[in-house]
Amino acid sequence: MKVIILAGGSGTRLWPLSRNRYPKQFIKLQGKKESLFQETFKRSLLLANADDIFVVTNEKYKFLVMGSVEELGYKYNENNILIEPNAMNTLPAICAGVHVIKSISSDTVVVFPSDHMIAKNNDFAELINASEVLTRDSLITFGIKPSGPNTGFGYISPGSGKENGYVVKAFKEKPSYEKAVEYIESGYYWNAGIFMFNTDLFTKEVKKYAPDIYNAFESSNNLNEAFSKIEMGISIDYGIMEKSSKVAVVPADIGWNDLGSFDSFYDISEKDEAGNITSKGNIIIDSTNNMIHSEPEKIVVAIGVEDLIIIDNRDALLICKKDQSQKVKDVVETLKNRN
Ligand code: GDD
Ligand code: MG
Repeated sequence: MKVIILAGGSGTRLWPLSRNRYPKQFIKLQGKKESLFQETFKRSLLLANADDIFVVTNEKYKFLVMGSVEELGYKYNENNILIEPNAMNTLPAICAGVHVIKSISSDTVVVFPSDHMIAKNNDFAELINASEVLTRDSLITFGIKPSGPNTGFGYISPGSGKENGYVVKAFKEKPSYEKAVEYIESGYYWNAGIFMFNTDLFTKEVKKYAPDIYNAFESSNNLNEAFSKIEMGISIDYGIMEKSSKVAVVPADIGWNDLGSFDSFYDISEKDEAGNITSKGNIIIDSTNNMIHSEPEKIVVAIGVEDLIIIDNRDALLICKKDQSQKVKDVVETLKNRN
């Protein structure tokens, strides 16, 4: 078994904590000993040797990857870090990993994003091993029981039973709020964003549903050349999972949390009696259900406010109403256009 870790995203929904030069997967979040990337690497080690773990990222993050792995006590082989010349979303990134793995031999591959928290890693590793039989004729997704109509996720409709999973009837990536409510009522799962497949079946499905990307890799000698031939990036969710009829879902009760936005961060963090989360030194009076983060040398005082996310960094201050933190992504776009 081989593992591909996706670590090329810039985590724009956690701006200004997550920055282009130092994105969220490498940050040690409040009260954590290890970064999300390091947790993902350790999760991968439950399934494969370090030599069989491939990290797909970009040149900027290469040394963050090296440093993070070495901090865990592993001398990491530089050849296991696959560098994309430009970010083209998750399908090309996964294809890059699969291309390199196939050049060694056909194999089962597990794909981990590096922006999740998983509480029950050992149970999950067992579930992955037990579900490997399904890769015979299916691309495997892992289904999480939804806790609300979050529009940032993929939704999976389970069909007929199959070993410890279900054939997927429909896969709907990032639906509207109304659709999400409907899907939850109809028993859909959230897509965990973690995939398992056999490299041969995956390549077949890419050839069928994303022929441009398939051809780019087939006709190239290295990743730079392949990426230069890809005109449009696309995620694995839109590119393959929504279209393929060979998808299965394995329900996974693994204490999964996506740390995609400040709202999800708030939801999973420990709060005081008034529902506030704050960093040391800040003063909060008559305020409820806020998340307030500041640098150690700065004091933030909040009086009589509720449901706010306040992130005070050295060079930027974010004030955002809770439930609207998905929009932080747009700020980064605006800033990009400004420079
Ligand atoms: N190397 C590389 N290159 N990595 C990338 C790229 C890229 O171009 N784009 C994103 N990633 C990494 C991110 O760092 C993250 O770890 C992972 O791939 C998934 O990308 P996201 O951008 O975070 O996807 P998402 O959260 O919007 O949606 C996916 O995850 C949800 C669960 O968290 C989908 O799979 C959804 O269906 C799923 O519900
Ligand atoms: Mg994500």
